Amino acid sequence: MRYPLEPDRTEMEQLSAEVVRRAIAFVEALPERPASLAGVPPQEVEALQRRLLAPPAEGPGELDALLREIEEAADAAVESAGPSYLAYIPGGGLYASAAADLYARATNRYVGLSGVAPGMAALEYSVVAWLASVLGMPRGGGGTLLSGGSMANFAAVVTAREQLLGEEIGRGVAYATEETHQSVAKALHLAGLPARALRRVPCAPDLAMDVSAAAQMIEEDRGAGRRPFLLVGSAGTTNTGAIDPLAQMAELAHREKLWLHVDGAYGGMFALTARGRESLRGIERADSVTLDPHKGLFMPYGTGALLVRDLQKLRAAHHVGGHYLQDLRPLTVPDFSDLGPELTREVRGLRVWLPLHLYGVAAFRDALDEKLDLAQHAYERLSAAPFVEALGRPALSIVAFRARGRTPEEADDRGRAVLASVNERRRVFLSSTVVGGRFTLRLAILAHRTHLDRVDEAVDEVLDAMRAVTGGHAASSDPQRF
Ligand SMILES: Cc1ncc(COP(=O)(O)O)c(C=O)c1O
Repeated sequence: MRYPLEPDRTEMEQLSAEVVRRAIAFVEALPERPASLAGVPPQEVEALQRRLLAPPAEGPGELDALLREIEEAADAAVESAGPSYLAYIPGGGLYASAAADLYARATNRYVGLSGVAPGMAALEYSVVAWLASVLGMPRGGGGTLLSGGSMANFAAVVTAREQLLGEEIGRGVAYATEETHQSVAKALHLAGLPARALRRVPCAPDLAMDVSAAAQMIEEDRGAGRRPFLLVGSAGTTNTGAIDPLAQMAELAHREKLWLHVDGAYGGMFALTARGRESLRGIERADSVTLDPHKGLFMPYGTGALLVRDLQKLRAAHHVGGHYLQDLRPLTVPDFSDLGPELTREVRGLRVWLPLHLYGVAAFRDALDEKLDLAQHAYERLSAAPFVEALGRPALSIVAFRARGRTPEEADDRGRAVLASVNERRRVFLSSTVVGGRFTLRLAILAHRTHLDRVDEAVDEVLDAMRAVTGGHAASSDPQRF
């Protein structure tokens, strides 16, 4: 009897060889691939989408044709895996992680309960323990790998709520700034807190939290009978990479008995470097920290992490048990299903474990140091141009800047024109944001494949476009910090 869902060795070898061959060709071509779909008519993309939405046939398909369809799907994209991706927060995707994933998917170990696959659970937990040690978390700390920063922020908020509010969530208050990533507001919402629970603390001119303002708000809220429970700091904001004063925030949280959560989804992994550790001082005192290896460790998407100071608190917020799960008890490694919303989950750790061990930690530290250097280099070049307003020296690897103009409106319009012009050329891809109500451009440098040549090219393109829209003149508007 032949079972089509169980290919034999030859079929498996052919299938994998064909996929791997195409994946390698894709990766090799990354530096020269167009940076985005700018200029491709939307009707063309729509037609492709309609075609790709087709349901499967009853009978078998032909591998070559199917793989060509997959390639077509992968081609129609902003090039988020290549060196040209300087938008949002860059990803990357180490090839070694893809290889690890192939093995992980083929062996399909179950790690929701660590007793089902204690070896694979230990490999995965070794990654968590290493991340906790990078942050300087004490003994008793730990955490889990989740699908990304949003899920990690969610699990952190639920843990803080559980510890400090119990069932009395109606009066709970959390503190963050306008620059805090929106996933924190989403987490509070999903955790059942009312919209009024999120208070926005003003920022200092460098866009980091004004901690004395936070202290005052906490006092007022207590006076009004509310229950302050959560202080959220950013270890690098998404907009500009600004770092909240984490050490001062740790003091405040300690004094006021608040949970300190640090969202390090973008910038937390810089703690691996000496400069980053210095800038992020205080992170080691947080109750919980979000890291996103699919950003700062160049892993494929779907790899986030939550680290906590006291693992039992994370467990208390997520453990529910179930009669049918009673047979296997965790040994040294906790059950991942007790540490987050998922029960059945993929092995996420292998794709982090393999490259970490294959290349060694120093390779990651060096790559992150390179990104810090590249951001300083881009900043120096941009801020030297009279028609560019750079928004302060980058704290990490995001350079935020604007076009100058006679009025803020003119400057914003010029910024929009620069963005469109740079992206149309499809050599690099940039995205914009709004800071202090003003249109702001940014170079976000984090992909492992982005090096000096591409950053210089991006800066050249920006300066050319700026020159074209400003006429090359410094406008009369005063330079502003943020
Ligand atoms: C600071 C910060 N927090 C949270 C997130 C959300 O992470 P994810 O997209 O992995 O859910 C991001 C994403 O860019 C981020 O920059």
